[in-house]
Amino acid sequence: MTATTPAFPDGFLWGGATAANQVEGAYNEGGKGLSVQDVMPGGIVRPRTQEPTPDNLKLEAIDFYHRYKEDIALFAEMGFKVFRFSIAWSRIFPLGDEEQPNEEGLAFYDRVLDELERYGIEPLVTISHYETPLHLARTYDGWADRRMVGFFERYARTLFERYGRRVRYWLTFNEINSVLHEPFMSGGINTPKEELSEQDLYQAVHHELVASAAATRIAHEIDPGIQVGCMILAIPFYPLTPDPRDVWAAKQAERDNYAFGDVHVRGAYPGYFLRKLAEKGVELEVTEADRALLAEHTVDFVSFSYYMSSCETVSQERESGGGNLMGGVVNPTLKVSEWGWAIDPLGLRTILNDYWDRWGKPLFIVENGLGAKDVLVAGPDGPTVKDGYRIDYMNDHLVQVREAIADGVQVLGYTSWGCIDLVSASTAQMSKRYGFIYVDRHDDGTGTLERYRKRSFYWYRDLIASNGATLVERTGAQD
Ligand code: BG6
Repeated sequence: MTATTPAFPDGFLWGGATAANQVEGAYNEGGKGLSVQDVMPGGIVRPRTQEPTPDNLKLEAIDFYHRYKEDIALFAEMGFKVFRFSIAWSRIFPLGDEEQPNEEGLAFYDRVLDELERYGIEPLVTISHYETPLHLARTYDGWADRRMVGFFERYARTLFERYGRRVRYWLTFNEINSVLHEPFMSGGINTPKEELSEQDLYQAVHHELVASAAATRIAHEIDPGIQVGCMILAIPFYPLTPDPRDVWAAKQAERDNYAFGDVHVRGAYPGYFLRKLAEKGVELEVTEADRALLAEHTVDFVSFSYYMSSCETVSQERESGGGNLMGGVVNPTLKVSEWGWAIDPLGLRTILNDYWDRWGKPLFIVENGLGAKDVLVAGPDGPTVKDGYRIDYMNDHLVQVREAIADGVQVLGYTSWGCIDLVSASTAQMSKRYGFIYVDRHDDGTGTLERYRKRSFYWYRDLIASNGATLVERTGAQD
């Protein structure tokens, strides 16, 4: 490192991220009710079931519910400063519309927080991460119904009152913009996607935005020091060609995501979004009280997930790209992961700069990583995974984070996704692994659930210890 090499600020929050439904298992223990995930054995790629079925890996997941101490000890060994996890709503309110919370569920997260405190790891809590109580989906059609705002307020208040003194950073809805693409998983909307009207879909969006502002209000009333963030699925869209119409198409695609941040940060719907709704014939029911809530209770910071970029074009000859819940068009200049997600480290610098320029709020990268097939091999200290591909991916993305910080962007921290192998959200596979820690569990449900340190485990430990100084500029990293 030379004197001119940019660096990470002191206190940068290095860590990892998970979600309850993808790690905890124990789907019917401790008084937990069912969530939408318990009837999604194939993620978003297969139809949901009526009841939980044995082929649903999330029912046991990686058994974090019983092994959290061992897992948090491993996070501490890597030197985590922060751990992002979600609270399973149906552990706290098993049906979702009860008056009183389930004490056993609350006590579980007390124990998780105790363990984090033991190691001085800061918690970052997602209130709702794709795990709406199933009863709310089936009885109310999830967020399509305004009564959800009240249920969520009660749930959020319960969490802030119980954990507010111990948890500084909170996120309201994971990837809130994903409801436009996956209404059941993201919004608990039971009506099949093909039958769901745009009127109901956008009304659900509005209810979530109001609920997010309401939660922010409650948090700040309880303790003005609590930091509440929104969480956006970030994908930069590039024009496929310099044709101005492609440039505009890419801008429109990005605005579908920007709109959610615009409301959270600026406190009102942007004109371009209102125009889009009008053109669709959607008339949102927005009360004066809603408007005031949105305007007065904006977020403290903006968080986002970043895995990939995509392209847009007006051309009819589109080659649709795979990717994280929203597709776009294939970018011929980029390599892709084994699951077809475009690998674009520079896109992360682009997003960081764009969001900072637009909103001027501190940013938190709360998901990033490479889903890949890992092979467990013998190592000097026991079984391990030689995951140089994952180290390269993360190294190259973090080099771009460092560049963005040098550009003047305020970045609070970085929590890599699936810091321990977990069940994939989109495909419900175990074989799509993201972790520094290998978990012996397989797509057919077999495995001992033993944990093993991958090569990336040691790499991340050294990276954190050096506050990012061990990153390397690799030639052709963007190719
Ligand atoms: C994000 C979600 O979209 O991407 C996570 O917030 C998810 O829940 C992650 O696991 C990676 O996606 P996948 O489909 O590979 O699990």
